[in-house]
This record gives sequence, C-alpha cells and structure tokens, in this order.
Amino acid sequence: MSTRIITIDGPAGAGKSTVSKLLSKQLGCVYVDTGALYRGVAFEIQRQDIDWKNDAALENFLSNLDLNFVMKKDSLILMSSGRNITNFIRTPEISLLASFSSAKPQVRAALLDIQKNIAKTKDAVFEGRDMGTIIFPDAPVKFFLFADLGVRAKRRFDEIPDQTKDINKVQQEMKLRNGNDSQRKSAPLKPAADAIEIDSSFMTIEEVVDKMLKIIEKACKT
Ligand code: DC
Repeated sequence: MSTRIITIDGPAGAGKSTVSKLLSKQLGCVYVDTGALYRGVAFEIQRQDIDWKNDAALENFLSNLDLNFVMKKDSLILMSSGRNITNFIRTPEISLLASFSSAKPQVRAALLDIQKNIAKTKDAVFEGRDMGTIIFPDAPVKFFLFADLGVRAKRRFDEIPDQTKDINKVQQEMKLRNGNDSQRKSAPLKPAADAIEIDSSFMTIEEVVDKMLKIIEKACKT
C-alpha cells in the first residue's frame, strides 16, 4: 500500500463519522464512509424489491450492481448506476436492511474492490466495521472507537429531526444492529489485534480527534 491509510472501526453511534471527517480534514486526505456502500446495496435491494435471502436472486442483483463514489469538493458522493443516492440511504429501514444484508459474504465480496481501489490512489481515513481486520490489515494506524450503548443512543436520537421518536426505540434498534454486526460470521465487527481502542463515552469529538492526531503523529515518526 503506497498511500497512507488510517482505519476507524466501531459500532453505530460511537462518533466514527464525525471524528473521521474532522480527522481527514486535519490530515488533508479524503474520508471514506464504507457504511454508505452497504447502505447503497440495501437501498437498491429495497428499490428493486430483491429477495436478498435467496442466493440466486442476490447474486443476479449483485452482478448488475453499479455503485461507486464520486469526489465532490472534499466529500464523496454515492452513485448508483449514475444516480446520486447519497440523500436516500439514511433511513432507519435502510440502516437495518444494510446490517442484515451486509452479513452475506457475496455482498461483502462485491464491495471489496471499490474500497481497495480508493486506497490505491488516495490517502484516506476509512470508517466502517472491518477496515482494520479485513480490508486494510496492513494500515499503519488503526482505531476502534466505541461508547456505552445509552450514550450512543442519545447521540443518534439528537441527530434525528423527528423528535417524536422514542429514545428507547432508537436504543433498541441500535442494540439489534450492533448485535447483528458483531455476531455475523463474515467480517464481524471487532477490533483488530493491533487497533488502538478509544472509549468516547465521556469525551468530546475534539478530544477524540486530538488523541488520534497525537497517536498518528507518533506512529509516523517511528
Ligand atoms: O456505518 P453505518 O452505520 O452507516 O453502516 C450501516 C451498516 O452497514 C452496518 O450496520 C453494518 C454494515 N457495514 C459493514 O458491514 N461493514 C462496513 N465496513 C461498514 C458498514
């Protein structure tokens, strides 16, 4: 790997996206939200009404899948067959469907090259579930960012514009999704053996970013 890759894995709501965006700005590199790819798959499964539990149907669907990221200013836009779908992939239904369908090894295999190809030409902060364990096992600095379930649910709740939603429901959905992501056979969510674990429960975003920058600086000197 000739480019510089930083990986950040962890459960939903740990602050990965916000931290990754700020960190990439500080480092002057791109930020890649790999969850968006799994959400893109889920969006198309839903839109095309695919029976994704049926392997033949899933494989046929994946062979026609045309997802890619396009660079716009300093962020990446998710395109599906030439259409910008970035604004359609953040619903609770897509979150759950992405969690379930991403357990399928065929889905993971279909998204492998997109992720690896970005790393061939760009320095990047990659955020996801298996960045440090499977996709970039040789990354020079790997982080695993986590926080208490209650804290993560409150953060996600505060981001939702619809404040009529019950925080307990948000917490339940989060628990279900993280259970799926951690317990699946294919590339489960877990820290890489050499990942630096950071508990963000009682830290501000700035504190987390600061801590990461210091660790990266030190790692790059040695
Ligand atoms: O990061 P996110 O919440 O947007 O991800 C949505 C789902 O996609 C998540 O529940 C599990 C899956 N995912 C994955 O399996 N591997 C990744 N590298 C990123 C996300």
